[in-house]
Amino acid sequence: MLSPMLKVLLASRNAGKLREFAELLPDIQFLLWPANAPELPETGAFFLDNALQKAEGARLWWRQHGTEPVDGVLTDDSGLCVEALWGGPGVLSARFAPELVSYRDKNRRLLGLLPEGADRRARFVCVLAYLPMEGPAITVSGAVEGSLAFEHRGEGGFGYDPIFIPEGHDRTFGELPADLKHTLSHRSRACAALRRGLAAHQG
Ligand code: IMP
Repeated sequence: MLSPMLKVLLASRNAGKLREFAELLPDIQFLLWPANAPELPETGAFFLDNALQKAEGARLWWRQHGTEPVDGVLTDDSGLCVEALWGGPGVLSARFAPELVSYRDKNRRLLGLLPEGADRRARFVCVLAYLPMEGPAITVSGAVEGSLAFEHRGEGGFGYDPIFIPEGHDRTFGELPADLKHTLSHRSRACAALRRGLAAHQG
């Protein structure tokens, strides 16, 4: 338990991520990125660059427009890295096939890029940047290894969850219960590391 309870601006509009942070870090009081706030640019080549870029943008914006004091801002840059796609879509995961609206369609498109017999190994990666209102960033990461299913399976989770089978399981993140995803996911591992970093900071 972090004490005193931190009040943190979570700079993301991804509903799936927001739900997971509330479940994974229940002892942090999150404020959501306001509707009138700008989209935060993410132009880096690596998850870490993007997480820091978004955190710096969010802190600056909150300093100028924030409606209440917060201890810091938190950003998440994450994605699915597929062996047979040379690590793609990777940092471009949120921008893969932008002309398709639903993840059911994006997932079908992504699976269609793999030729028969392709290496189906894949990994979810999550990098978090916590930037206190004063002081340097804490950055942490988490990953989970697995493989791609042959079709979209399950309605749980979000994004690429229905095509990702974590190592040691035969169901996708879309089929596994959320509390099981939280015992092994990239985001849960990054959150555990963040909790350790914050606790060390609090002394
Ligand atoms: P970004 O971090 O905003 O660039 O977007 C990350 C994208 O990666 C999301 O929009 C999802 O498409 C995907 N992604 C990240 N984490 C997960 C996850 O836990 N499950 C499924 N898809 C994810």
